[in-house]
Amino acid sequence: LLPRVVFSGIQPTGIPHLGNYAGALSQWVQLQDTEPSTSKLIFSVVDLHAITTPQPPQQLRQWRREALAALLAIGLHPDRATIFFQSSVPAHSELMWILSCTASVGYLSRMTQWKSKLDLDNASSLDGRGVGSKLKLGLFSYPVLQAADILVHRATHVPVGHDQKQHLEFARECVTNFNHAYGDHLVQPKTLISPVHRVMSLTDPSSKMSKSHKLDRSRILITDSPEQIKAKIGSALTDSIPGISYDIENRPGISNLLSILSLFDDQKRSAAQLGAAYSDLSPKQFKQIVSEAIIQGFGSVRKRYLELLSSDNDYLEKVAAEGARKANQSAEETMSLVREAVGF
Ligand code: ADP
Ligand code: NA
Repeated sequence: LLPRVVFSGIQPTGIPHLGNYAGALSQWVQLQDTEPSTSKLIFSVVDLHAITTPQPPQQLRQWRREALAALLAIGLHPDRATIFFQSSVPAHSELMWILSCTASVGYLSRMTQWKSKLDLDNASSLDGRGVGSKLKLGLFSYPVLQAADILVHRATHVPVGHDQKQHLEFARECVTNFNHAYGDHLVQPKTLISPVHRVMSLTDPSSKMSKSHKLDRSRILITDSPEQIKAKIGSALTDSIPGISYDIENRPGISNLLSILSLFDDQKRSAAQLGAAYSDLSPKQFKQIVSEAIIQGFGSVRKRYLELLSSDNDYLEKVAAEGARKANQSAEETMSLVREAVGF
């Protein structure tokens, strides 16, 4: 059996929230704890992806540091995993170009993720300058970069949320196209289906918790203080039905809080089990329990995060440099095969 190579990435676009933690980051830590020591774990702060919408450079620099600090604060270990900035490994961009030359525009244009970010029809018609004049090429082709991120490290397993499944299929399509043209050099990655932990907005439990929601109190950041957590959970939208019960349909707010509580439950009880256990509580009492669980769960994360970001701490630079070294080495193993196959 060949050792597994696990790859995943996070965009540096702000401090991760509870949804990011539940849906992605906590799984990375779990993989780190459970994968056999022969598995290679590679986690990237994908800063090249972050500029599909241009950011002020100082802002991007800060977000990069924050993302790296967050990965370490949640418990990823640079001794066990390769943790690096995507832009420190030029092979990601190089392979992206090579993949672009065998990737299909038709396939890309049928993908839904970027379509929702920028409607191609509107983009082409609004300013009268012709098809796609407002649609930036990078936003259109970023799934090719995402494919390169995975393939350049010969990843065999990619933990992704449901919203990324289409992109992984596209990455497999890139492998098929490249290998058809140049021989069997790239490895087909598999999706590592992670259990669905979809956290909903605290202020609008019909939509997911997201950094793009305009209300700050709609989301818990992994770095929120106990006071912030209490205030946000205290003002979370619930209902006027007495008692606590798990009923997504009729009690989306309470059910979301139960799901959050189950994330942090020592006894690993499900949201429904917790609903039964706390059925007699008032919403106010219940919210106190939820707040305490989050404060407890994120307490050491917040402490470590703040330590890592303190200005006299150069540990982040050391981790980034070591990560870049290891990631460049891993990418070069693939790129030497690829360059040879292409004719460079
Ligand atoms: P956001 O919606 O805040 O911009 P991203 O789209 O950057 O978050 O998502 C980063 C990762 O976090 C993805 O793997 C995504 O599936 C996961 N994720 C984001 N929001 C949630 C959520 N509310 N619940 C569960 N997982 C989420
Ligand atoms: Na998003």
